[in-house]
Amino acid sequence: MSLGKDPLSSTPVFIGKSRIAQDIREFIAIASRSDAAVLLTGKTGVGKELVAKAIHYQSPRITRPFLVINPSGVPESLMESCLFGHEKGAFTGATELMRGPFEMASGGTLMIDEVGILPLSVQIKLLRAVDAKEITRIGSVMPIACNMRIIAATSEDLFAAIERGSFRNDLYFRLNCLPLQIPPISERKEDIRPLFDYYLHQAAERHKRKMGIVPDIYGYLEEYPWPGNVREIQAVTERIVLTLEGNSVEKDDVIKALNLGDRRKFLLHIKGDTVKEKLHNIEKDLYFQALKENGFDIHLTAEKEKLPLSTFRDIIKRLGLEETMRQYQKNPMQIKHGDRRNDSRTIYCSWIIGR
Ligand SMILES: Nc1ncnc2c1ncn2[C@@H]1O[C@H](COP(=O)(O)OP(=O)(O)O)[C@@H](O)[C@H]1O
Ligand SMILES: [Mg+2]
Repeated sequence: MSLGKDPLSSTPVFIGKSRIAQDIREFIAIASRSDAAVLLTGKTGVGKELVAKAIHYQSPRITRPFLVINPSGVPESLMESCLFGHEKGAFTGATELMRGPFEMASGGTLMIDEVGILPLSVQIKLLRAVDAKEITRIGSVMPIACNMRIIAATSEDLFAAIERGSFRNDLYFRLNCLPLQIPPISERKEDIRPLFDYYLHQAAERHKRKMGIVPDIYGYLEEYPWPGNVREIQAVTERIVLTLEGNSVEKDDVIKALNLGDRRKFLLHIKGDTVKEKLHNIEKDLYFQALKENGFDIHLTAEKEKLPLSTFRDIIKRLGLEETMRQYQKNPMQIKHGDRRNDSRTIYCSWIIGR
């Protein structure tokens, strides 16, 4: 769980010229006037955290802390104490008293990112914390009052999670007082230009460079789908500033920075004489990688790929992956179990240190 404290910077602004961006700025202004729970939905990099921060900074809570917690990657056994804190000696390894983010954000705003991945056992405690504005540390029976404003965020469809039975209905309605869905950048193309200009300018200043922009790059930028949303715009502008040789950003620089050139080269290098053969090989590689990441556990991989087990077994057979898997299973040293989820020490440290 990562815990990020906002630096004392000026109020963040949601940049954009689209109607949607204007509505979002309006939403921020309305939300900052109340203490009601906010639920932000949208893909990664669309600006959920920025909106949460902007609400906090425009609200009377501005002088109190703004904290973000993200339970991704935290083992279930540690999640409760990461959220609510624990008393000294509450469990093996609890050598110090630890105040949780609810206590630390008291008077301020607490953003709970990826709220959909919290297990049901923690959701019920979260509901109580939001409802009663009090929490109880692990290893204690004394409730502690916490006057925090909650902003929850999710990149998954919580409604579908409710239907699957993995998210509580009552918690959803509690968090969903002020809902905001932030569409991906590809659905508000008018925002690409101002965001690109802003982040290019920022990167140029940071690297003490002066540069102009050839206007015909914008059509190109608007065609690109930006799967990483605004975070990708930031990375691409940074790359442009670092690699630009001349003083003006042209179409070729953008293509290079978007890796489109490399991507074309990459496509040429896939094994196979026909598109059908190439697709077969890509599919085989991707499923092989997925199996490898899950220690060649077919059940686990099928679950993560959201496939019925029988369908997944058919895919393995069709792609001829059985033999490759057998070879790897004979020599397990070749298989890397890089599952950080089980490495509680890493996660715990990253939570304490922050991001
Ligand atoms: N409309 C916007 N205007 C300015 N910066 C933005 C905008 N949307 C996102 N960003 C920036 O892009 C980065 C990713 O946004 P973030 O809020 O972390 O996205 P999310 O939480 O949805 O993954 C952040 O640095 C954020 O400040
Ligand atoms: Mg985020």
